[in-house]
Amino acid sequence: MTKRVYNFNPGPSTLPLDVLKKVQADLLNFENTGMSIMEISHRSPEYDKVHNDAIALTKELMGLSDSYKVLFVGGGASTQFAYIPMNFLHKGKVGAYVDTGTWSAKAIKEAKILGKEVHLAGSSKDDDYTFIPKSEDINFPKNTAYLHITTNNTIKGTQYHFVPDTGQVPLIADMSSDILSHQIDFSKFSMIYAGAQKNLGPSGVTMIVIKENMLDKIEDEIPTMIDYRTHASKNSLFNTPPTLPIYIVKLVLEWIKDQGGLSVVETINRAKKDVIYGLIDDNPEYFRGPVRKDSRSWMNVVFRLPSEELEQKLVSEAKKAGFIGLKGHRSVGGIRVSLYNAMTLEGAEKVAEFIMNFRKNN
Ligand SMILES: Cc1ncc(COP(=O)(O)O)c(C=O)c1O
Repeated sequence: MTKRVYNFNPGPSTLPLDVLKKVQADLLNFENTGMSIMEISHRSPEYDKVHNDAIALTKELMGLSDSYKVLFVGGGASTQFAYIPMNFLHKGKVGAYVDTGTWSAKAIKEAKILGKEVHLAGSSKDDDYTFIPKSEDINFPKNTAYLHITTNNTIKGTQYHFVPDTGQVPLIADMSSDILSHQIDFSKFSMIYAGAQKNLGPSGVTMIVIKENMLDKIEDEIPTMIDYRTHASKNSLFNTPPTLPIYIVKLVLEWIKDQGGLSVVETINRAKKDVIYGLIDDNPEYFRGPVRKDSRSWMNVVFRLPSEELEQKLVSEAKKAGFIGLKGHRSVGGIRVSLYNAMTLEGAEKVAEFIMNFRKNN
């Protein structure tokens, strides 16, 4: 048995062991083709099934009807920051954004680079992004083309625990770091996108879930690969899609379903985050959680120790003990415990025990 560590990396991150084993078992001879999934045509019936299963499973887990399209594209979630305004921000229209941290700010920056009109619909910047603005504090003008939010802020450790009510205005969400981690009414969103490398699979593919009526809103002539209509009309097979990552996404989606779907995944994720936040809350003289309680992320728990020296010591001792990736993002420092779907409750309990022992000894 190969030695595996407890991997708390923020992304790419840990994958379910069962999924990795399946990839390994299937690698040399996928579905009796005598080839790996990487070597077969994206137009073959074997790949086609993988592709369509991944799409169907996504809709099933999200409880979405056929009025949504599921797309798989390359370029990472970051590419979508520019594609969204290119597709939907026409003259006279405003892109409304809630700024809750680095990733929202990057999305805003791209829209501005394109010379598009941007409205700041809400922000927690003045408070060092330690909370999610309340629904009633999110405002946008009548000519808003969409409201863009980042549902989980991977770096600052905040997360929306509500879906903003935007009325007729389409809601677009970057769900890169909390997609399919809990139950949510996905039908309230007109577009959801996520880089796969946290909750869905490996890096290299971005999932886009888009309401069909959004495609009718695209007016301008934009380059073919940037136009969502291209991928929607060709079932993400206009060009060669990232077949290996999509195959692994499919296995992860099956794994989620086999667990019992989002209600079960949510229960486990709730227990995991309670273990870590419990540690912080029970020892306030030692640990400091900067995030407001109502905005705490279930996926990325961030906290500080009494000194940076102790934080460095914790990270390096944890690594030696087999707990990887606890260092906070380089822009903020501190400790970050990423608890994506594939991290087990056992992993969360073990790291909590380790951190508590560290606290006793230091
Ligand atoms: C919330 C969020 N959005 C976007 C990104 C960027 O994703 P990508 O690296 O796929 O471009 C990240 C990466 O960590 C993220 O956490």
